[in-house]
Amino acid sequence: MKKIVIAIDGFSACGKSSTAKEVANRLGYKYIDSGAMYRAVTLYFINNYVNPANPKEVSKAMENIDVSFVFNERIGFSETYLNGLNVEKEIRKMHVSQRVSEVSAIPEVRKCMVHQQRKLGRKKGVVMDGRDIGSNVFPNAELKVFMNADMEIRAERRQKELLAKGELVDLPTIEENLKQRDKMDSERKENPLIIAEDAIMLSTNFLTLEEQVEHVLQLATEKMIKH
Ligand code: DC
Repeated sequence: MKKIVIAIDGFSACGKSSTAKEVANRLGYKYIDSGAMYRAVTLYFINNYVNPANPKEVSKAMENIDVSFVFNERIGFSETYLNGLNVEKEIRKMHVSQRVSEVSAIPEVRKCMVHQQRKLGRKKGVVMDGRDIGSNVFPNAELKVFMNADMEIRAERRQKELLAKGELVDLPTIEENLKQRDKMDSERKENPLIIAEDAIMLSTNFLTLEEQVEHVLQLATEKMIKH
């Protein structure tokens, strides 16, 4: 069967990454977490006091940023590296979540990341999740899925994820962050979060991870046969 590109977009904490990761593993595809790339850039901005409103500082920072993914045999998944350092845990923390929408709205940041994402998906056989993958990064992706879930469910999921990583954050704070990011990600000028016309909608309110994975795998198989 020919390899295809699978774009999984949607709001934060809808189960996109967990689903995309597992789908990629079962198909033997590469998984790219585009949100992790924006998070790594944001971490660099925070650690190096880069002012997002200063184009010169932003340009200089982008020249010095190298984001990559390295497969970790022990856990069976790729982890995010920033300039050679494993930042997988750090980029998921609240202080990064609180700044990431601002940083990912900067046109130069998006230009660099989108260029890198297209390079990573050039050979197909890739599952990429994010906000603008089906609408902008790979408008010709063979399969586009848009995932969503109710705010309450998303906030609870995110709280559990943070707790598993040792960070206790109360639900109202998480909900506020998710709402703010939904708004900023949808309203930004450059490649906002939109639902691609040909995307298949998937509400994850009442689905387990396994059911989400099965659903996407079935859609992928149909596309691979047609392709
Ligand atoms: O998927 P996530 O929550 O880890 O993404 C973090 C942020 O990165 C999200 O709030 C907006 C930004 N992002 C983006 O602008 N475009 C993408 N393709 C993926 C993420």
